[in-house]
Amino acid sequence: MEIGILGGTGNAGRALAGRLAKAGYKTTIGSRTLKKAEAAVEKLHTLWKPRIENFSVSACENAQVAEADIVIVATPPKAAIATTKTLSKQLSKKIVISMCNDLVQNEGGGFSPKIGKVSIAEAIQDSAPKALLASAFHHLPAKQLGELETPIKNDVLICSDFEEALAVTSSIVQSIKNLRPINAGPLSNSVSLEAFTSTLLNISTSYQIGASVKITGLQND
Ligand SMILES: NC(=O)c1ccc[n+]([C@@H]2O[C@H](COP(=O)([O-])OP(=O)(O)OC[C@H]3O[C@@H](n4cnc5c(N)ncnc54)[C@H](OP(=O)(O)O)[C@@H]3O)[C@@H](O)[C@H]2O)c1
Repeated sequence: MEIGILGGTGNAGRALAGRLAKAGYKTTIGSRTLKKAEAAVEKLHTLWKPRIENFSVSACENAQVAEADIVIVATPPKAAIATTKTLSKQLSKKIVISMCNDLVQNEGGGFSPKIGKVSIAEAIQDSAPKALLASAFHHLPAKQLGELETPIKNDVLICSDFEEALAVTSSIVQSIKNLRPINAGPLSNSVSLEAFTSTLLNISTSYQIGASVKITGLQND
């Protein structure tokens, strides 16, 4: 199964690409420019090829990413809506996972959510109406995610209106050691996942950590 990442050159997309490649997925980093995607791939290969067996990621432009089996959106939020609108035809019937958060950084350095009428994930669904949208990976800090040899012990909350998208996203999450997928309800609930990221960032700043999410009370705790 090939996973392509729109905007995979950023810290979040590149870190996730590394984890997915380590888990054995054929992974592609997409960019508006091929050169930038190639530079991101080179960065990952230089760091991890000598340390992880069969580690490989490929590079392409965003339009080609949309040909992958699964597409992850890792651009800033506004760009995500515009990019998926342009690729709407190619994304038809495809599982598309948004990890986008819409936040503002306040003057004092803290973060607040920008809560609109809908979440970014729902706006992406509107841009690509025939895509099977899921919303996930919002709460994994890129820094920790990118340290591929350090286990990242977190829960990944997933919202989707499509059973298939929920199941496939869950199995992708599970393929990364120590991550646990949690069904967090329909896509309309993504607004709370996206907004909660600002709380985590404020906690991270206060305690100088990379705060993430762990749900208690589940049977397999
Ligand atoms: N950073 C984190 O810890 C983290 C964790 C979880 C979720 N997220 C979310 O994941 C997303 C990516 O985060 P990030 O920190 O990696 O962001 P970023 O570095 O600001 O952006 C990622 C990539 O998006 C592309 N991009 C930027 N502006 C664009 C535009 N106008 N049109 C199309 N593409 C554009 C760029 O790729 P090219 O120039 O190569 O096209 C850029 O490298 C965000 O929505 C963020 O909220 C971040």
